[in-house]
Amino acid sequence: MSGSFVFNSVSRTHFGIGSVADLSAVCQGLNVKKPLIVTDAGIIACGLLASTQGNLEAAGLQPVVYDSVLPDPPESNLHESLALAKEQGCDGVIGFGGGSSMDVAKLVAAMLVSSQPLQEMYGVEMISGGRTPLVQIPTTAGTGSEATAVAIITTGESSKAGVVSPVLFADEIILDPELTLGLPAAVTAATGIDAMVHAIEAFTSVRLKNPLSDMVALQALQMLSANIETAVQDGSNIEARSAMLIGAMLAGQAFANAPVAAVHALAYPLGGTYHIPHGLSNSLMLPHVLRFNSSHCADLYLHVAEAVDGVDTAYLTQANIGDALAEHFSKLAERLGLQTRLRDMNIQRDALVSLAEQSMDQQRLLINNPRDVQLDDALKLYQEAY
Ligand SMILES: [Fe+2]
Repeated sequence: MSGSFVFNSVSRTHFGIGSVADLSAVCQGLNVKKPLIVTDAGIIACGLLASTQGNLEAAGLQPVVYDSVLPDPPESNLHESLALAKEQGCDGVIGFGGGSSMDVAKLVAAMLVSSQPLQEMYGVEMISGGRTPLVQIPTTAGTGSEATAVAIITTGESSKAGVVSPVLFADEIILDPELTLGLPAAVTAATGIDAMVHAIEAFTSVRLKNPLSDMVALQALQMLSANIETAVQDGSNIEARSAMLIGAMLAGQAFANAPVAAVHALAYPLGGTYHIPHGLSNSLMLPHVLRFNSSHCADLYLHVAEAVDGVDTAYLTQANIGDALAEHFSKLAERLGLQTRLRDMNIQRDALVSLAEQSMDQQRLLINNPRDVQLDDALKLYQEAY
């Protein structure tokens, strides 16, 4: 290890079955009396927020709920929730839901105390002010958004823009596995693979990886890989749900510092053009990128194989590790009931060129990849995944 590094993270993490009941005390500790809770209609419909809202009110707090966050949240979600928070005089923000709700919560917390226009916040370290107190409570185990300082917003039909700033790290996060018990199997599978991709790509990132991001990435991989099949097969297994929730958060910590790379770069066009869920897009591309990258990071992949549950490491070498990991994740996706080929996703073969071209727009991710990815490489990877 040479050179210097900085490891950023959320300063306080609460974990426990039923720990969402700590929220009132957390708000009081942060001196928040009227929090804006940012969530989506699905959370309200399944009654996941009701008892938490009741607990806050019983503790004398006055929560205000914005429940219209959409998947791949558009800018209108920010403007609406900000207007509500201002109108109600909110003094803190709670993200309660998946990555979309938590991303919106991050930006609303910053916009509540700043006159800086949203357009000027896009990019890396562009936020000029601070934010209100911010608490994040994930109800899925995948995005790791609770542990990152990134918010991704849909700015046009399918174009997305990110805000990256240390300001967006929450004050506190609450991990309560009971909140994830109702996640459908397909969502558990896809978001769990996404979390593992975060850990793998952070561990092999050529930029900003360090001993701390490595440590959390490997621990994340171990917990996620050992529990994903149980969590998918038996959604009520609280031990497996706990491990998935902690693992996804640790993977978030890893890629908040050592950013993700080609799997995500190739997955984004699938989401943008075909609206394939983010986790599934990553799962479709993962085996092919593992094979492609292995000549450039075989030593790191050998460590990945040791962390991943169920990989027989006895005969692994730098020459066969790429194939072995690719095979492992292909079979895992099949066992989890996920689609494994692009042709199963209603994508025409002649659309692969356009996907490859779009992936080249993801240079902010491709620069982290262990192996250089050019247009013809991206096209080959889509062809292999077809
Ligand atoms: Fe991801």
